[in-house]
Amino acid sequence: MTEAAAGYVMGHDDRERRRLALQASIQNPFTQELFLRAGLATGIRVLDLGCGVGELSLIAARIVGPQGSVVAVDIDDAALEIARRRATEQQLLNIEFRREDIQTYNPDSPFDAVVGRHILLHTPDPLRLLRAVHAALKSDGVAVFHEFDFTVLPADDPELPLRSLAKRLFRDFFQRALGSADIGGRLFHLFCAAGFGHPQCRGEFSIEGAPDSPFYEWVAESLRSILPRAEGLGLVEAAEVDIDTFADRLRQETVSRRSGLPAPVIIGCFARKW
Ligand SMILES: C[S@@+](CC[C@H](N)C(=O)[O-])C[C@H]1O[C@@H](n2cnc3c(N)ncnc32)[C@H](O)[C@@H]1O
Repeated sequence: MTEAAAGYVMGHDDRERRRLALQASIQNPFTQELFLRAGLATGIRVLDLGCGVGELSLIAARIVGPQGSVVAVDIDDAALEIARRRATEQQLLNIEFRREDIQTYNPDSPFDAVVGRHILLHTPDPLRLLRAVHAALKSDGVAVFHEFDFTVLPADDPELPLRSLAKRLFRDFFQRALGSADIGGRLFHLFCAAGFGHPQCRGEFSIEGAPDSPFYEWVAESLRSILPRAEGLGLVEAAEVDIDTFADRLRQETVSRRSGLPAPVIIGCFARKW
């Protein structure tokens, strides 16, 4: 595994890929709507950075249709294999999945749109990456990113102690480990600094609370991914989280209090290259 692959803090295993699928079931409708607002349309050529198991690639491929195309890159071979299989099953033949490190990837021809979700969160130098995105676009091409901001904390009412523990841990972990807990709120400035015109940015979050919501397991699996490193940073002790029972306890706490459980805020941001 390369240094960049080893550095991805959520890991590269089957649990992580299942976590991405749970996350997608909550967030894909928001991302699809963002793509349409940003002007993705039939016939265009799209680059998906850090495609994982292909969630954004599949959405983009449907929008651009057979006359358009998608190049999707990730550093995780197993995720790319799943993404390829999904594209084949869904008969989306207009996607090329490639193993590339986005820090060094230098595409040989320009794109109409470059998209990414939860990738700047994991990128050591997001401004450098956005400058490379600017360079990879045709003139008038559009960059579209969907990123968390863990420093914006909508209240739960009635309050949920386990949710409070989780939101504190995500905020502190991403800030201490990567300096990126507030990446969503920084997108506007980063886009401008990378050479784009003023971006359009909007923050959104769903409020969950039904017993069958995928949210509880998604939160628990996300916590599980960061727990060893969060412990190493002194942010929490594993016994305090009790990760194997976390999803069930969060569900029980939320449903029994009839509380609205806000998902983390996600900022959608897009701008054109002038
Ligand atoms: C949080 S996941 C998001 C996946 C996908 N965009 C989604 O929303 O479902 C981040 C992805 O970025 C990939 N990644 C992280 N660092 C990378 C790098 N330097 N080059 C390429 N891919 C990278 C990881 O392997 C992972 O699949």
